[in-house]
This record gives sequence, structure tokens and C-alpha cells, in this order.
Amino acid sequence: MRLDEFVSNSGPNLRGDYSRARADFTLDQDLSAYTVEEHTLWRRLYERQMKLLPGYAFETYLEYLSGLEAGDSIPGFERVSQRLRRATGWEIVAVPGLIPDLAFFDHLANRRFPVTVWLRKPEEFDYVVEPDVFHDFFGHVPLLFDGAYADYLHAYGKGGLKAARLDALKMLARLYWYTVEFGLIRAPEGLRIFGAGILSSGGEVVHSIDSQQPHRLAFDLERILRTDYRIDRYQDTYFVIESFERLVADTAPDFTPIYKRLRELPPIAPDEAAPGDEIAPRPEHGLS
Ligand SMILES: [Fe+2]
Repeated sequence: MRLDEFVSNSGPNLRGDYSRARADFTLDQDLSAYTVEEHTLWRRLYERQMKLLPGYAFETYLEYLSGLEAGDSIPGFERVSQRLRRATGWEIVAVPGLIPDLAFFDHLANRRFPVTVWLRKPEEFDYVVEPDVFHDFFGHVPLLFDGAYADYLHAYGKGGLKAARLDALKMLARLYWYTVEFGLIRAPEGLRIFGAGILSSGGEVVHSIDSQQPHRLAFDLERILRTDYRIDRYQDTYFVIESFERLVADTAPDFTPIYKRLRELPPIAPDEAAPGDEIAPRPEHGLS
């Protein structure tokens, strides 16, 4: 979809300034445009998360996050991209806000991660509807330094372009949701978070690991492709991977016959326990 079509189709609720965007929906991040108040808000968001994450976030994520030294102010993307290119061949590109699916997949398929430039307002400290620079950068960018994770996201982008041709975007979006955004991982030290939607959330960090309410299921590709999700509340179901390497291997097969088969089956509700579910062991968190 062209930029002007996207903006006019999206209506007045589209958040962000698209007037400077290029045809691929990227723009130059204008670091000088951020106000002192915005840098302060970033610092507060960062400090709040850093109090929550130890013992909950995947250790690998925390190591890469601390290496970014991004706690004091909204970071410049180019400085980070220079390091990313050397580490995993990825870079981050600035975007004005949400972009169309195909543009998003195309960036991922070329190892470019789109990061929104605007920061939420102070009154949105606890919750913001659209992804802002804090969610996109804090939640997503650190793991782009991990080789296997970076390969997974690259493959996802290529898979997205293919799913669009096969009219299977709704199914594939569930995979992104339940891994990249809300995924858990069985780490040697216990159950940990690697999904950006949880890592950048003030409330869901503890809920995802400690609450007795949600289902925690072992990663199951076909189960995920069938499972609907809610965007307006904490998740009812989380899926637990064993490692990024295993995730890459489990999602490597051609999805074409899988889409074809699953299309005949009804979706699974977010809070439903389905036959054959493999319940991940209860969190041992807090007992050790
Ligand atoms: Fe995200």
C-alpha cells in the first residue's frame, strides 16, 4: 500500500507525523526534536521497568539491554544500528508510527526493524494503545543482538510476505503475538520473559510469570496459528519456548500445507484449554 493511501485509509486516529516519511514508511529520526520532558519520561519508564525485570526477564535480553546504555535519554537509532550491523546484520529504521503489514514484513525480511519515533504522553505512563518508541526500542531492540533471535525475526518477515500471498496473515500474526510480543522461555534459571509486549509493560511482567490465572503452554506451532488473542488486557494464554534455536527450527518448515489444513479448523479462543494442550510446569518462581 502506498504511503498516501495508508494515511487516508487509516483516518484521523492514526498517531504520528507521516508528512516526512519516505515511500518505504521510514524517516530520519530527529533527535533534537525530543523535549527535556520527553527524555525525563523515557528515564522514568526505563527505571520503572528495571525495577521489575530482574528475575523475570530472560537474562540474555537484560545483558543486551544494559549494553545499549539507553537508560538516560531517548537513544539515537543510528548509533545502535552501527553496532547491530556488526553483531547480526540488522539495523533499526525510524518510522512515524504503525505501518502497513507488507511494509513491515519487507523491512524484517531485509533485517531492518522499524522503531516508532514518538514517545507516549505522561498520562500514558502505564499503558499506551499504539506502540511508541519506548515499547519498540526497549522491548524489541536488545534481542536483535542475539543471532538465533535475529534469524527468527528475519524468517518471520519472509514468512509474512508469503502469508500475504496465501491469504494467511491472520494466522501468521498469532505467531508474532505469542512469541515476539508475549513469548516466555524456559531458561536454565526458570521461566523467563522474552516477549516485547510484556518486557515493556508495567503490569504484565509479574502477571505473566507469577499469576495462577493464565495458561502456560509448551510451544506448539499449529496450536498458536489457531489461537486468537486479546489486545486490550493481559493475556489468558502464554506459550513457552525452549530456546531461540529451537524456535527457529520449529518454524522452519513450509507453512503452506499447514495453513491449508488449519483453515478447515475453528480458531481457539484466547482462554480456551484445547485437547492435547501440553501445560508447561507451574512457575517455580519465588520458591527458590
Ligand atoms: Fe511490538
